[in-house]
Amino acid sequence: NDSTNVSTDSRDLVEVLNETGKKAIVFYGSQTGTAEDYAHKYAKELQTRFQVPTICCDIADYDFDKLGALPSEVDGFKFVTFFMATYGEGEPTDNAVDFFDYLDNECDSLEGLKYLVFGLGNSTYEFYNAISKRLDKKLSELGASNISVPGFGDDGTATMDEDYLAWKESIFDVLKDHLSLEEHDVKYQPSIKLIPRPDLSIENPIVSLGEPNSKYINPTTEETKNAIQYGPFDHTHPYLSPIVKSKELFNSETRHCIHAEFDFSQTNLKYSTGDHLAIWPSNSNEEVEKFLKAFNLISKRNDVIGFETLDQTVSLPFSSPITYEAIVRHHLEISGPVSRQFLQSVHQFAPTEEIKADIARISGHKEIFSKEVTEKYFNIADILVNISKGSSWDDIPFEFLIESIPHLQPRYYSISSSSLSEKQTVHVTAVVENEKPQGSDHFVTGVTTNLLRHIQLAQSKSDLKPNVTYDLDGPRNLFKPFKLPVHIRRSTFKLPTNPATPIILVGPGTGVAPFRGFIREKVKQAESGNNKIGKILLFYGSRSVNEDFLYKNEWPEYSKKLGENFELITAFSRDQKEKIYVQHRMLEYSKEINDLLQKGAFFYVCGDASRMARDVQATLVKILIAERNITEEIANNVVRGFKTSNRFQEDVW
Ligand code: 2AM
Repeated sequence: NDSTNVSTDSRDLVEVLNETGKKAIVFYGSQTGTAEDYAHKYAKELQTRFQVPTICCDIADYDFDKLGALPSEVDGFKFVTFFMATYGEGEPTDNAVDFFDYLDNECDSLEGLKYLVFGLGNSTYEFYNAISKRLDKKLSELGASNISVPGFGDDGTATMDEDYLAWKESIFDVLKDHLSLEEHDVKYQPSIKLIPRPDLSIENPIVSLGEPNSKYINPTTEETKNAIQYGPFDHTHPYLSPIVKSKELFNSETRHCIHAEFDFSQTNLKYSTGDHLAIWPSNSNEEVEKFLKAFNLISKRNDVIGFETLDQTVSLPFSSPITYEAIVRHHLEISGPVSRQFLQSVHQFAPTEEIKADIARISGHKEIFSKEVTEKYFNIADILVNISKGSSWDDIPFEFLIESIPHLQPRYYSISSSSLSEKQTVHVTAVVENEKPQGSDHFVTGVTTNLLRHIQLAQSKSDLKPNVTYDLDGPRNLFKPFKLPVHIRRSTFKLPTNPATPIILVGPGTGVAPFRGFIREKVKQAESGNNKIGKILLFYGSRSVNEDFLYKNEWPEYSKKLGENFELITAFSRDQKEKIYVQHRMLEYSKEINDLLQKGAFFYVCGDASRMARDVQATLVKILIAERNITEEIANNVVRGFKTSNRFQEDVW
């Protein structure tokens, strides 16, 4: 294996910068990889456009105590840029928690440090970009100076890319003016170098599921394939988990819902009820073929290659040797919409002047890009094929593609089982969408959810040959039938510790997933002889009782076990003329909800963040106003108080 870590082991920033000659730092606080991806591209641009040697790293990679010493102890040090995501209820990402702790409690002064902040957030959440704002405030309180105002990217309105581009252009102007940085032509400078490995070849064909004729082969040896997997398993090192069972909960023309069960009996990986399962996806055959064709890689697809890093602070995000195809299939985000930024950077490699001009035209203006690319749901291969009209992109270095295309990131699902009743099995509930949006001639499909669906289809087919290895795996090189790489993300979405505490659960659609876990936990507690289970109200909604009622047959079973303590209240929105939503049903239960809250009940919401969760909270406020005869302001304060004391919890997306 080539090293995938920063080659210098030191955690001392001053030492690392002096050793590597870097003059600027880009730190990222990233949960799902977006901030990380933006940070890398920005760092690359600082290097190429301004020729500032820049290091880009995880905020947790180095000790923080040298931050203040950078301007004085690193000759020619320029500035630090932070790419900081806000997570959940205005919290820092996991990797940034310690950093904030340091700023709040240990750091005395950052006098002399120049910095920039770009925040990544989602305006459908209450605490929009709270973390980047908090960081900016804290840094300036500590005496550091902001070169320019923070930028804020909004995922909620899907303008992240444009927000970033606008901020970047303004920043680059400031850098030219204030720091007298000189601008150079943007030309790709590789940080990694591809090394062909003709000495290695592939064995063991792996038949690809769904399209049995196409062979995908990965350079894994028998040895690695059968290797025991060692933990700890986390976001850098997933566990390849068998999927022991999966079934379809409902299907309609464009929507399917899959229930899948992951077996943890062969690992010491643990979860607790309410946690999330991260699933590492891989791209579909169709998208892989399209991409390989667009970049003229078909004939090389199975060639084995290795990499060398040209910059010792850069690490390769996957292990090698590997094949071209394995990189495209398992590591690059090729199915999602192409970004304007990518198109701008690929411009330099266009095969003809005409194509170059066309790319400049399309990527130069937000409106044109939106009309000709975004609205058509084009991904990278789509747009390049469309623009190139037959010319082939022979000059584009494969290293450039690896460095410029976002890397496939795990997708997170609320776990729908209970760690008390399913100790070694993790259930997830995923709706598979295949939409053909207006103006597009192809389907927009979810990478992971479709993978789950293919596994489910395969498991339901009786003609599968037991000895064939089906290729359904993710980025790590261990292949067995029906396995996907996963890890557990801890969540704060938890049942009250006292089983007697009443709970009110509101979860329409797949928002019901964690509540199925909660209720299974209650059933298990009841079965183990606990006769003091608190009241459970579950508000569930879907389109129609006969179309998409999730776990329809299970709820009566739970009722049998929990008796009067469990009440399911349904809202089927499309079974009558007027819409009926969960919050409408909540109003009918105003008195009971208020009574339960007065007895100390916990209130939970899971599902759509943009509208449902807001409407539900507004309805709760309404109920409090009416039942307690209080003002809106006081009712809002009551809800705020619930949130602070963890009696109001949300798992929304
Ligand atoms: P609709 O699609 O018929 O509008 C699960 O997605 C269920 O949540 C569906 O029945 C959906 O109804 C409903 N839903 C849509 N918007 C909602 C909102 N703002 N609040 C609550 N439920 C909503």
